[in-house]
Amino acid sequence: MKPGESNKALFALEYLVAVAGAAYLFAFGWTSRRHRGFIQSIARYVGFAPRDVPPELPIRSLPEVLPETFTQQIVEQSFATGNVSPLELCVLNELVREHAPAAVLELGTFDGRTTLNLAANTPPETKIWTLDLPAADVQKTRFALATGDRSYVVKDRSGARFENRPESAKIVQLHGDTATFDFSPWFGKIDFVFIDASHGYDYVLNDSRIALKLLRNGKGVIVWHDYGGWPGVTAALNHLRREPDFRDVVHIEGTTLALRIR
Ligand SMILES: C[S@@+](CC[C@H](N)C(=O)[O-])C[C@H]1O[C@@H](n2cnc3c(N)ncnc32)[C@H](O)[C@@H]1O
Repeated sequence: MKPGESNKALFALEYLVAVAGAAYLFAFGWTSRRHRGFIQSIARYVGFAPRDVPPELPIRSLPEVLPETFTQQIVEQSFATGNVSPLELCVLNELVREHAPAAVLELGTFDGRTTLNLAANTPPETKIWTLDLPAADVQKTRFALATGDRSYVVKDRSGARFENRPESAKIVQLHGDTATFDFSPWFGKIDFVFIDASHGYDYVLNDSRIALKLLRNGKGVIVWHDYGGWPGVTAALNHLRREPDFRDVVHIEGTTLALRIR
């Protein structure tokens, strides 16, 4: 047998099974909710990008997920387009106050306003890693970025708001594409993940699955930004909530934050 021949035989078999599976899926399988989600994924994989994706996650009010009284420090209040809203910043600050994570990983640094606030509201020994796509790599991403992502990627530097701040001693800036970055040194070592990088559908699926691997013993907090705001984020979380690992994700009322606590 020549090299590569066995791979060709395997691919031929997979091709036939996939054709038979697709025939079943499109003829009868669409009647199941899980299969409908898969059909939607295929449509998005080949470039379909709906403009309005209605949120489907169950809504929880603020008092259902946080204490009635907030006891936090807000730093660098001023809002820049690309940041979380003032209320979302308060929610994130209070979540880390409540859960006191030893290790935090943020996907998507931008100017570092949220990173800085997470640093200001976590215990002194907490370590925070934040990953951002270098501007020079904006054309080289593994998956398609969402329309509109580019303006947040192309900037002079990431994390400008925490530069020269005392809180920055807790923060480590990482650079790379969330789809190709080697997260393995952090697997099983993170207590709080904030997902706010690319808003593309494939990226949100990718980043969410990475977040699961990052959590320590599968336990901890995952927060997504822009649910209900960006179609790719909304569609990806609507899809993921059909899977057991994400079935308890909720949408925090009055915000575009989605939350999973285990
Ligand atoms: C909306 S901004 C993040 C805002 C920030 N988390 C905050 O709360 O202020 C999105 C960030 O994700 C980064 N980003 C976009 N695509 C990425 C990718 N594939 N990998 C890593 N970072 C990415 C962009 O460079 C940008 O800084």
